[in-house]
Amino acid sequence: MTKIYAPASIGNLGVGFDILGAAITPINNKLLGDCVSIKLSKKFKLTNIGKFSSELPKLYKNNIAWKSWSIFSKKLKIKKNVHITLEKNLPISSGLGSSASSIVSTLTALNIFFKNPLKKNKLLYLMGKIEKEISGGKHYDNVAPSYLGGVRLIIENEKKISQKIKYFKNWYWIIAWPGIKLSTIISRSILPKKYSRKICIQHSKYISCFIHASYTNQENLASSSIKDVLAEPYRKKLIKNFSQHKKRVQKLGSIAFGISGSGPTIFSICKNKKIAKKIKKYFLEKYIQTKNGFSHICKIDSVGSRKIGNNFNEII
Ligand code: HSE
Repeated sequence: MTKIYAPASIGNLGVGFDILGAAITPINNKLLGDCVSIKLSKKFKLTNIGKFSSELPKLYKNNIAWKSWSIFSKKLKIKKNVHITLEKNLPISSGLGSSASSIVSTLTALNIFFKNPLKKNKLLYLMGKIEKEISGGKHYDNVAPSYLGGVRLIIENEKKISQKIKYFKNWYWIIAWPGIKLSTIISRSILPKKYSRKICIQHSKYISCFIHASYTNQENLASSSIKDVLAEPYRKKLIKNFSQHKKRVQKLGSIAFGISGSGPTIFSICKNKKIAKKIKKYFLEKYIQTKNGFSHICKIDSVGSRKIGNNFNEII
């Protein structure tokens, strides 16, 4: 049976609220993301397995895999039924694009299973629709990178939803999830409805500088442009000792630091493995709050969702 994997992702990337995101993969060659496999069945059936499956809603109609199947089968008027196995490897409400990973793995698996009836853009559109329903706001910055890989800018014009952005391959992305939940709905609800002209100008400056620097190979300009004036000033209150962690990792050699998606996962960027290991150690000692929490040194995942083998050891 084909198993589809969809990688974790860093929404916003610290500078592009709702419009920039990246898929990530740990450097230890293990995988960080949910997996889905599909087979035909007389009745609809959903089996949840994986490290975080006990956190999933008990009612299958509240499960993302069901929602994905429901919208997909209605759109394509599919009369058959399926048995979906969801391997929930990402913690829920973690800021690592956990819901996106479930949506992307399910819809990619369904599309492949039914011989690719939907083209990439159409499938991505459905992914965004489900994400909106779950998180309380339309945003493609997790589903697009998890599905298509790389760093993605959300452009949403008539022809295309997202655009691949050039990135620095030498950068290490250290992520840390403290082991506690923070719902995206709550994290979005505390943000202002309106921003001042000053903030809008600052935001435009940082995001355009980041994109420009990425294409002109100016690493320092790119990393110094990773500044979040839209969400971080409000969300950092939800993250324990945020400003202290920011200062400490900077001293260790971090070139940028921010909240991954809507948190509570945080991320740091650095240019070499030795520093990455120090930052990971710091996160493990100072940011992890429960036994489930973790930190990983990652690179950008350039592939996105894909078929993988059945070896469960491949997953973190
Ligand atoms: N862009 C979204 C947000 C990402 O910050 O709310 C959620 O993971």
